[in-house]
Amino acid sequence: MFSKFRSLIFKIDPEVAHNLAIKFLKLNLTPNLFDENKDNPMFQSTLFGKNIDNPIGMAAGFDKSAEVYNSLFKLGFGFVEVGTVTPLKQYGNPKPRVFRLAEDQALINRLGFNNLGAENVRNRIRSNLSKGLLGINIGPNKDSSDWLNDYLIGLRTFHDVADYITINISSPNTEDLRNFHEEVKFDKLMNSIHEEKIKLKSKVPIVVKISPDISEEQIGLISKILLDYKVSAIIVSNTTSKNREKLNDISKHQKGGLSGKPLEEEANKLISKFYKLLKGKIEIIGVGGVDSGESAHKKFLAGASYLQLYTGMVFQGPNIVGKIKKELKEILINDSVKNFREIIGKNHTN
Ligand SMILES: Cc1cc2nc3c(=O)[nH]c(=O)nc-3n(C[C@H](O)[C@H](O)[C@H](O)COP(=O)(O)O)c2cc1C
Repeated sequence: MFSKFRSLIFKIDPEVAHNLAIKFLKLNLTPNLFDENKDNPMFQSTLFGKNIDNPIGMAAGFDKSAEVYNSLFKLGFGFVEVGTVTPLKQYGNPKPRVFRLAEDQALINRLGFNNLGAENVRNRIRSNLSKGLLGINIGPNKDSSDWLNDYLIGLRTFHDVADYITINISSPNTEDLRNFHEEVKFDKLMNSIHEEKIKLKSKVPIVVKISPDISEEQIGLISKILLDYKVSAIIVSNTTSKNREKLNDISKHQKGGLSGKPLEEEANKLISKFYKLLKGKIEIIGVGGVDSGESAHKKFLAGASYLQLYTGMVFQGPNIVGKIKKELKEILINDSVKNFREIIGKNHTN
């Protein structure tokens, strides 16, 4: 069904197509898609103490200003992460700023945290309570003079309406944001978040989203700090500024973050490295090129306990969660696996 529409949709500018999709989802006409695996125990799990139907979440960036999260639950997502939200409303970079690389099943974006700002998003969430597990991804305003304080504003604004909060230090489209991956800066950020949570008497789980473009040394240092502060989970990973040489599409040299298929292998390697260092003490949410049962299977084997996707939905359509579950079920049945959790990190034990 979606494949018929796809060639039509792909004639439209990708950001315009995205805004149309948001408008449609906002109408709340989304049907409950037929999913033969809804409530299938094979996929059931818990995340931060809450039951979820399946471990496939919508990644940050699709619903930046929390407009359609309840429609995304209807499409079958086990959890949804909205944002990135900054303290103040922000337009982002000049357009065009999203590029579809159809030949590579990829996107390049340099949106730059366009969103309606923390207060607006908080009010939205309070007036439209979430029907599923909702994460809120926070970041700083580009022109702010104190980025660390911007994260604290995000935490204060959302700690009582989010099921978890993601500290996004990994967008390539806010210049220098990725400096938070440096040891001293990262430790200071995590310490401030920790202190602020104590002040707020908040128990909201903290998740950190990292860049795939980090060194071996940084992987080790970040893991240690995550363990020190008992962070709840790490999202591996955001988009990459690298990996352009393998691409075929004419848009391959656009500036921005690359997502989708060309990110998959890189993200899987990084998940493996973090899994070895975190030893199951911190959950890993695997992201990057998930679009099929096979790609989901690979991420679980590498060590992810949960998945997120964005680009896969652009290419495969709104029924992607149902499709992944159907394909993954075949693989798990073949291997006599009763619940996907049995295979998490299996690459490391065989
Ligand atoms: C158009 C677009 C916008 C994005 N915006 C955000 C964002 O605001 N915050 C964030 O943490 N990640 C953002 N991402 C990154 C995704 O959440 C995800 O980490 C990345 O796309 C890799 O997953 P995928 O290959 O399934 O798309 C964005 C990705 C795309 C394609």
